[in-house]
Amino acid sequence: SAIYRAGVYGRRPPVPTAPDALEAAARRRMGARGWAYIGGGAGAERTLAANREAFGRYRVVPRLMVDVEQRSLATTVLGRTLPAPVLLAPVGALELAVGGRPDRAEPAVARAARDLGLPVVISSQASTPLEDTAATLGDSPRWFQLYWSRDDDVAASFVARAEAAGADALVVTLDTHVLGWRPRDLDLGYLPFAHGEGIAQYTSDPAFQRLAATRAAAPADPAAAQRPTLAAVRALLTMRRHGATRADVETFLDVFSRSTLTWPDLARLRERTRLPIVVKGVQHPDDARRALDHGADGVVVSNHGGRQVDNAVASLDALPGVVAAVDGTAPVLFDSGIRTGADVFVALALGADAVLLGRPWVYGLALAGQTGVRTVVENVLAELDLTMALAGVRDVVEIGVEHLDAPRPSS
Ligand code: FNR
Repeated sequence: SAIYRAGVYGRRPPVPTAPDALEAAARRRMGARGWAYIGGGAGAERTLAANREAFGRYRVVPRLMVDVEQRSLATTVLGRTLPAPVLLAPVGALELAVGGRPDRAEPAVARAARDLGLPVVISSQASTPLEDTAATLGDSPRWFQLYWSRDDDVAASFVARAEAAGADALVVTLDTHVLGWRPRDLDLGYLPFAHGEGIAQYTSDPAFQRLAATRAAAPADPAAAQRPTLAAVRALLTMRRHGATRADVETFLDVFSRSTLTWPDLARLRERTRLPIVVKGVQHPDDARRALDHGADGVVVSNHGGRQVDNAVASLDALPGVVAAVDGTAPVLFDSGIRTGADVFVALALGADAVLLGRPWVYGLALAGQTGVRTVVENVLAELDLTMALAGVRDVVEIGVEHLDAPRPSS
């Protein structure tokens, strides 16, 4: 009602409210490179579309004459009470949303998350060192997302930094041990990280700095001695703007990921940190069980926003099976395709304990910085709250499958 009430005074919202209008406006603002990286998905983008279509198969059944005057969105995840069952998903190379300006990326997001009191999941690929984001967040909750580096020292150092920065949990993303096939980025001949975007977490890391120094001291790649093209000069300038060298970028590309990982590695990580571990990227019930058996404290059902495996199952369709497998023994979080509060309602009804909001808040950031992020999240929460009221639900934890009609067949 606060939003409608503002209209009495002629106020208009700072960013479009409808999800498609928000996306279209952000797309115009971000430019080709930003849109390719942020809006794009893997392959023919079928899974990107399927993530959305899956929500269309579920319908909420409104209920009448329930006293819903007092409602609560508050919920507890991993022992911490949150004002709503929503976290800000980890998003790397975020500066691409804001004209290549790291100073307008994470700092604005951290201020918005602090305003909202909702956890932000800080990406391994952030454009700003996590310590700076943690300082901006103050007491507000933060989780740290780990890409498991091929280099043990870098991986251990990231975990230690997350602990020191007051992270409430470690989100270990397991669906990106190799980067997906992303035609929009490929056509631009451009992967953000190769120009030094989204590698600040690494260049600010002592273990990484030692590796990069070794590489810098090694004989130069003969390719570097050739007459540089305009594109190569541009790449170097972007690196320089990020305080990164070619040795940094090459070292990053060497150590970013690790495809040798198997479940016992998770058990070893479990021994090395006191933080709760949440495994992100789960799509199969057996993987959820194995993650918990090897020490995980929770899972995120996610297909990385359709950015990794095209033709992969829609993340929402993977949710009920994982919820059944986990059977209440650990929190199940969900992402990939959430655009509205009504979407959050459906994910919670199918058994998610909380959701991660991804692209929508990035679009808000692109359009209106801190205010944009805050407005987008507030809109989602407002619609969730109204959906609860109209479905006759007082408390988010009461939202269940009984509030949904039987799923419709896919079109
Ligand atoms: C991501 N995602 C992601 N996940 C992660 O674990 N670490 C990361 O650094 C990133 N980076 C990233 C960048 C961009 C531009 C996008 C769009 C996504 C995945 C993210 O956390 C989340 O799983 C998806 O965004 C969910 O899909 P939707 O709802 O945004 O479509």
